[in-house]
Amino acid sequence: MTPTPKKKRDLLSLLDLDVAEIAMLFSRATELKQSLKEGHTSQTLAGRTLGMLFEKPSTRTRVSFEVGMYQLGGHALFLSSKEIQLGRGESISDSARVLSRYLDALMIRTFAHENAVTLAQYATVPVINGLSDHFHPCQILTDLFTYEEKRGSLAGCKVAFIGDGNNMAHSWILASTKVGCHLVLACPVNYDPDPRVLNLAQQQPEKVGTITLTRDPREAVVDADLVITDTWISMGQEQERQRRLRAFHGFQVDMSLMRLAKKDALFMHCLPAHREEEVTSEVLDGEHSVVWDEAENRLHVQKAILEWLMLGRI
Ligand code: CP
Ligand code: NVA
Repeated sequence: MTPTPKKKRDLLSLLDLDVAEIAMLFSRATELKQSLKEGHTSQTLAGRTLGMLFEKPSTRTRVSFEVGMYQLGGHALFLSSKEIQLGRGESISDSARVLSRYLDALMIRTFAHENAVTLAQYATVPVINGLSDHFHPCQILTDLFTYEEKRGSLAGCKVAFIGDGNNMAHSWILASTKVGCHLVLACPVNYDPDPRVLNLAQQQPEKVGTITLTRDPREAVVDADLVITDTWISMGQEQERQRRLRAFHGFQVDMSLMRLAKKDALFMHCLPAHREEEVTSEVLDGEHSVVWDEAENRLHVQKAILEWLMLGRI
């Protein structure tokens, strides 16, 4: 185990990074992506270990973190909550104290955001939120990175989020305060973003973008530079499936909706996608979609995040 920097940092939401740090993170992610494409890997995290606590399933987050640690010379441990004592009632605070004695950083995918906060509070090593019911910071950083890579700055751009006011919607709300985009969220009645997250965004000193809520997906998408959606049924909401399918009727991103956006608008989805529910295959596989590059970029951005938190510098 390698000593961690004195004052550890965590990544629980986008509020844990300022604008300059996000820019530095993206610059390092670009370098790491480029060097990997050229066949080089750097061993910056040699001898370091990441523990990955999962209370929910995952494909992208699990694999990109594990591969990322390996490529940087370190090691990642997959810790399913069902198979460690956390699943038998050992508290998060006690688990945090113990795991900090073995590991150089922790990642957690959990339900209540408070679990990630508690883990970070009691862990003496950096904690990364790999998705909570409130936020998905690794995904939003990747989405911002992917847009910049394809189109440049998001400042002044119109971003349309169509669907559930969930962890991805919340992450975009915080992002608008950092990148200065005009975010319009179209959500059905009873599925608006949490007002506490909207308040949090209003309070940000760096607040530069605008946030608008509407019930009309068409209004949200008109002239948009970027259109985003996410599943209507997030992990843990499976029992609400029928009710949600009814509520989200009319909120599908299809080609007729995409045609209202700018001609060169991008389409993003954090995945997994539920084809013909929140998005049609025609859009997902179509000319606007950048979802596969977006998924790939999780690897490059997270390697930069891991270096930042484990080495204490970007
Ligand atoms: N986008 C995302 O976090 O995917 P996984 O649930 O597969 O990790
Ligand atoms: N909103 C989705 C995102 C999956 C990556 C969920 O929480 O299940």
